Amino acid sequence: MSLLRIDSSIRTQGSVSREVLDSLERSYVESHPGTGVVRRDLGREPIPAGTWAAATAAGMTPEDQRTDEQRDALATAAALADELLAASSVVIGSPLYNFGIAAHLKSWVDLLITDPRFAPGSSPLAGTEVVLVVSRGGGYGPGTPREGWDHGTGWITRILADVWGADVHVVEAELTLADVVPAMAELRPLAAQNRAEAHEAAAKIGGGLRR
Ligand SMILES: Cc1cc2nc3c(=O)[nH]c(=O)nc-3n(C[C@H](O)[C@H](O)[C@H](O)COP(=O)(O)O)c2cc1C
Repeated sequence: MSLLRIDSSIRTQGSVSREVLDSLERSYVESHPGTGVVRRDLGREPIPAGTWAAATAAGMTPEDQRTDEQRDALATAAALADELLAASSVVIGSPLYNFGIAAHLKSWVDLLITDPRFAPGSSPLAGTEVVLVVSRGGGYGPGTPREGWDHGTGWITRILADVWGADVHVVEAELTLADVVPAMAELRPLAAQNRAEAHEAAAKIGGGLRR
């Protein structure tokens, strides 16, 4: 039994999603003795940009005519699918970049979908709990000027819950830029409260994951 932890922040220092996932992971390990944590760090080690296109082309090419690049791409997709299917529970860090999810996380999803087990209609994660930890620099709550501008969280949740069938928990930390953007200075107390609540929620969910 293991927890699969997927990071996609391009930051390795000061990353809020990584820190919130740390809280979740600590709580999970304490509450689930004997289980391991498997890490895939898409921020540090992105999937090469051409892999998805090669895997997609492979799907349109008769097996005996595939190039080595296409075969390698399918093997990478299969390895990612094996890794995800082997996990008892999954946690994903998802920073908001340019109003969408991290390109590295999108590449991971796109490549997985080239594997027949993750094609739409198959619900490969039915019965698996997935915790999505979102980090956003600004505020996107109801009534704020940017309400509705987070086009990342809805998409990744749609894939995880509705395409792959997972039981999804979402933890959101926002206003993370308040500490460094002078124009957001008055939001710092709110940002600190929001971050503390995200850590608390993540730890609680991590401790209570079914397996
Ligand atoms: C290239 C880039 C684009 C960003 N775009 C947005 C954005 O569209 N909206 C937003 O609220 N914050 C944006 N941010 C801020 C990040 O969402 C914020 O720093 C978040 O905490 C990143 O996650 P991390 O702390 O785990 O690295 C952006 C940051 C970077 C580096």
